[in-house]
Amino acid sequence: MSRIIIATHNAGKIKEFLPLLAPLGLTPVSAGELGLPEPEESAGDFAGNARLKAQAAARAAGLPALADDSGLSVAALGGAPGVHSARYAAGDYPAAFARILAAAQATSESRAWFTCALCFAAPDGATATYIGQAHGRVAPPQGDAGFGYDPIFIPDGYTQSYAELGAALKDKISHRARAFAQFAAAFRVTPFF
Ligand code: IMP
Repeated sequence: MSRIIIATHNAGKIKEFLPLLAPLGLTPVSAGELGLPEPEESAGDFAGNARLKAQAAARAAGLPALADDSGLSVAALGGAPGVHSARYAAGDYPAAFARILAAAQATSESRAWFTCALCFAAPDGATATYIGQAHGRVAPPQGDAGFGYDPIFIPDGYTQSYAELGAALKDKISHRARAFAQFAAAFRVTPFF
């Protein structure tokens, strides 16, 4: 098994990466475990922020690293909060859900989509980035699995939220799973390390 840093301090994301990495023979080590600092997400887009996080971790620890930058875009808010999803909630998800649902109701527009940019960085700073999206709609919160905006997001083709569908299904259909599938396909052809 080769070690790879998961450059996030978000416990929900780390949990989702574990079952994805095992089939590739990769053992995840979290940036938190290694005491790595979290760089400021100053790039302004998902891919740029994922690259900042992955490169900072790989260079600091001398190990390959994977970082994801992700978020929920709401059509009624013109695509916000998007890259600012964590800041938009500021830890109070029920309040963020209420603001999003009020905007969706006011505009009769419930479409929403998650985006995940997943960046692999080698210790020398070389990177490869993969983007995954999942489209759906926002609806009043249901379910308690998952994290973040999971309770209000119903993916297309389903009637339940990410938080009701649970980890096993989310790991197959989510924005993160889709980005990861591209990384896994590339890694299987040419293991980067
Ligand atoms: P960051 O990528 O660490 O900047 O934060 C992404 C934020 O987007 C998270 O803190 C959540 O609020 C939200 N987010 C990203 N992916 C998911 C997901 O799979 N489910 C629910 N919320 C998510």
